[in-house]
Amino acid sequence: MVSLVCHFQKALPTRCACLCAVVLASLITTTVADIYFHNPRGSNNRLNEQGRKRNNANRLFDSQNNDRGGYNVGNLYYYAGSKLSIEWTNQHSCNAPNSHCELIIQYMCDDLLRDGLTTKTIPINQEQCANNDCNTDRSYGMHEDYDNYLKCQTTQRNLGLFVADQKLNSQKATSTRQNPGGTRRGYECPEERDYYPYWRSSPWKDIVVMTNDPRRCDFYKSESQNVKSKWECVLPELVMAVNKRQLLLPTTKSECEAFCYPSGHRDCVNGEWREMPSHGLPPPDCRETELSRDNHLGNGVDGHPNLYNWTVPDIEGKSCVMRIRYNISTDDYNPWNTDSSLNAERNQPSKVDFSGRYEFSTQTEAEERGYVFENNPLVKLFSDPELDFDLQLAINTAQFGRVFQDRSHAFQIRRRPEELQGSVIHNLNVRGKRGNIVQVYPAVEYDFVPNDLEVAEGDYIHFQWTGSNTNPPNNEGQGRAGTDRSNVVLLNAQVYPEGSGSQYGPGQMHGHYGTNYPSHIDNTTLLGLGPEDLENLAFLYSNQFGGDMSELDDAGTYFDLTPKKVTIAGTYNYMSTRNNNFSNRDHKGRILAYDYLVTLAAIGWSGGNVSLSDGSATAVVPQGVFDRLQKIRLESWSPLKGDKEIRSRGREISVGDSYVSNFLVVHPVERLAVNGRTFSVQMAVDCSVCTVAMYRSDPSTFSFWTRVNADVANGKAHFEAVEGGVYVARSESKIGVYVGAAVVCVAILLVLVGTIIYFKKHPEKFRQIQKAAKYAERSTKDKV
Ligand SMILES: *[C@@H]1O[C@H](CO)[C@@H](O)[C@H](O)[C@H]1NC(C)=O
Ligand SMILES: *[C@@H]1O[C@H](CO)[C@@H](O)[C@H](O)[C@H]1NC(C)=O
Ligand SMILES: *[C@@H]1O[C@H](CO)[C@@H](O)[C@H](O)[C@H]1NC(C)=O
Repeated sequence: MVSLVCHFQKALPTRCACLCAVVLASLITTTVADIYFHNPRGSNNRLNEQGRKRNNANRLFDSQNNDRGGYNVGNLYYYAGSKLSIEWTNQHSCNAPNSHCELIIQYMCDDLLRDGLTTKTIPINQEQCANNDCNTDRSYGMHEDYDNYLKCQTTQRNLGLFVADQKLNSQKATSTRQNPGGTRRGYECPEERDYYPYWRSSPWKDIVVMTNDPRRCDFYKSESQNVKSKWECVLPELVMAVNKRQLLLPTTKSECEAFCYPSGHRDCVNGEWREMPSHGLPPPDCRETELSRDNHLGNGVDGHPNLYNWTVPDIEGKSCVMRIRYNISTDDYNPWNTDSSLNAERNQPSKVDFSGRYEFSTQTEAEERGYVFENNPLVKLFSDPELDFDLQLAINTAQFGRVFQDRSHAFQIRRRPEELQGSVIHNLNVRGKRGNIVQVYPAVEYDFVPNDLEVAEGDYIHFQWTGSNTNPPNNEGQGRAGTDRSNVVLLNAQVYPEGSGSQYGPGQMHGHYGTNYPSHIDNTTLLGLGPEDLENLAFLYSNQFGGDMSELDDAGTYFDLTPKKVTIAGTYNYMSTRNNNFSNRDHKGRILAYDYLVTLAAIGWSGGNVSLSDGSATAVVPQGVFDRLQKIRLESWSPLKGDKEIRSRGREISVGDSYVSNFLVVHPVERLAVNGRTFSVQMAVDCSVCTVAMYRSDPSTFSFWTRVNADVANGKAHFEAVEGGVYVARSESKIGVYVGAAVVCVAILLVLVGTIIYFKKHPEKFRQIQKAAKYAERSTKDKV
C-alpha cells in the first residue's frame, strides 16, 4: 500500500509529494500479518486503552501488527532462575516451505525503562519533556533511550544493504527498505529493528533465535552481542545532539578515523572508533522453529501455542521488557545473499535476476514477461501473443522480506529470598482478555499458561496474573463490564467413565476436565497447598477481603500467590469460576505433579544439554546429532518405583544383582541420533565395591534389557546413547560371586557330611552299595 502510492506518483516532479504520501499512508494503513505475545502479554504499543484499536502504533516500537492487537496491561515479576513459558502466535508459517522464518526473542532491563502514562510518542525534542530530559520524563513510555535514537539518527545507514527499488528518504540508519520514509517509533532504531544480528551495538540481550535453518546457529551465536563487542563511530555526545540533522557518521574504522566534523574546518572534531563491550552473557540459545500454518494465528502441532521455556536470568531487574521479532522472507530471490549491487537504478525495477530462478533464457526475456522485483508486477504467463493477458501479483518490495515485532509490558526480575534458594520455580500465569473469540482477536480468550504445567514434587509454583479494568465495555464476559479477574479452584472429581483421556497424567487424578463445578471435597488436596493458600486462590483474599466477591469484582486486577511448594504429586485439573462459562468460554488448566524428578528441553540440530534439577543426570547432545527439534524429557525413578513399573507389566529384571542407580527415563523412546552419531549421558551410580553394568529397556514393555557400555568412576556412569528409553545401573558384585560360591561349598559339604553320618548309622546300606558297585564293575568287565 505504502509503496503503491509512490509508484503512481513516480512521474510527479516533487519527491516531497511522494514522501508525504508515504508518511500519510503509513498512518492510515491497517496491516494484516503479525506476531503477538500472549505470555508475557504483548502490548503491540497499547496502553490501558478502551478502544478495540490501539491509539498509537508508533508509541514505543514498530510492530507492523494489526491495530486490534495487544493487551492493556501485563506487569508481573519473575524470580531469577524461575521457568517462564513464553507464548506467542504468528500469522505466517514457520518451519514450512512457504517462507523462511526467524523468531528472535530478546530482553533488556533499565531502571528508566517504563510503560508510561500517556499514549503519545516520547518527543525527540528534549525541550518538550520535563526538565528538558525525555529519558527521565516518566509520563512517556520508553524502552530504548534517547541516546540510542541519537546514534541512529547521526549514523550512516549500511549502504551495502539491498533496498530493491525503494526510495529511502535519507542516508541515515533511520531509513530502511521496510521503513523508507524514516518514520520514528519511540527511540527504536529502524535499521537495528530490521536486521539481526546487528553490526552496531544494541541494548537488547538475546534469549533465543529460532530459525527454519539451524545451520545458521553458529553464526547467530558468534555474532550475538551477548558474546561479541561491536564497534561504532562516535563524536562527543553534545556535538552529536546539536548537529543531529546534518551528521552522517561512517560505519567503518578507516572512514571513522578520517572523519572530522565539520569537515574542512580548522577546529573540526575527529570521529572516535569506539568498542561497545559485549553484554558478557552466554550465547543465545538457537534452534529450529516449530510448525505453524500460514494465515492461522494459531496453535502448534500439539494443539497448544508454540512456546519457548525461558530460564529467567539471575539478575535484579527493576524494569525489563521482552521483545519478539518475526522475520519472514521467501526464496524468490536469495535474501541472505542479495546486496546493494542489485538495487534499482532511478525509476527502474530492482536488478534481481529472475531468469535463472524461473528458467527464462535471458534476463531480458524475464523482464519482458514482467518477472521483475518491483511493486505489483504484471506477469505474462503465456508466450502466445494472441493471449495478451497480464496477471498482477501483490508484491511490495518494502515488505518482501519483512519483520514483525511485539513487546511485553514492563516486568521485573527479582532475586530470590533465602527460603527459595536452590529450588525449581515455575511461573503459572493467565493469558487472554475479556470478550468472545471475535472481540478479543487477534488476542485470545482466557487461558492459563502453561496450560499443562509439568512439575516435580518439591518444585515451587508461582501463581500470578494481571488483568485490566478498561476492556471495551460491551465485550462478553462475566463480572463487572470491562474487567478481567481470574481465580483457581480444583474441578469436581470424575463423574463419568471416559476413554483414554481419563488416564492422563501422573499419580491420582484430582478434578476432571469433564466437569464444570468445583470440587467441594477434594479442594483441600490441590498440590498439597495449605488452607490459606487455597482460599486465597479461590477468593483472592490477599487482594480483597469481603465486598462483592461472588464474581471477584471487588478484587484488584493483580494477583500474586508467591511461590508455593508442591508437596502432593498427582494430576490436578482446575478452573476459574468467574471466567468458565460453559459453551461460551472455557478457562481451565492442568498441573501434572510427578513424585519423581522431571526435566524438559527442546533440543535440535545445533545440540544442547539437559539436566535433572538435582544434577544426578545430564544428557549432552553435540551439534548435528539430532536432525530435527526433539522435545526431550528426563525422568528419574527410584529403584522402588522402577521395580514396581516392571512388575506392573508382568516382568522381572533378569540381569545383574541389584540396582545401583535410579532409573533414568529418556523420552521420546525412539531412535534420536542420526546414523553414526551418539549423545552422551551421565548419571549418578551408588556402588563403591561392586562392578557396574548399565542396561537399557523400553519403559512401555520392559520386555528385554540390553547391556550398554559405560565408564564408571567417582560415583558416575558415563555412556553414549542413540535412543531414548530407560537406563539403569545394576551391580555385578564380586562379593556376590564369593558369597554364592561359599553357599554352594557349604551345601556340598553338608550333603557330604549328611551322607557319611547316614551310612555310619546304617552300615548294612553301605554294604549293599558296595555289592552293587562290584556287580556293576563285573558287568562292565563282561561287556568288554
Ligand atoms: C531478516 O531476514 C533478512 C533476510 O531476508 C536479514 O537480512 C535480516 O537481517 C533479518 N532481520 C531480522 C530482524 O532477523
Ligand atoms: C515447557 O514447559 C512446560 C511446563 O513445564 C511444559 O509443559 C512443556 O512441555 C515445555 N516445553 C518445552 C518445549 O520444553
Ligand atoms: C455466559 O456467556 C454468555 C454469552 O457471552 C452470556 O450471555 C452470559 O451472561 C454469561 N454468563 C454469566 C453468568 O455472565
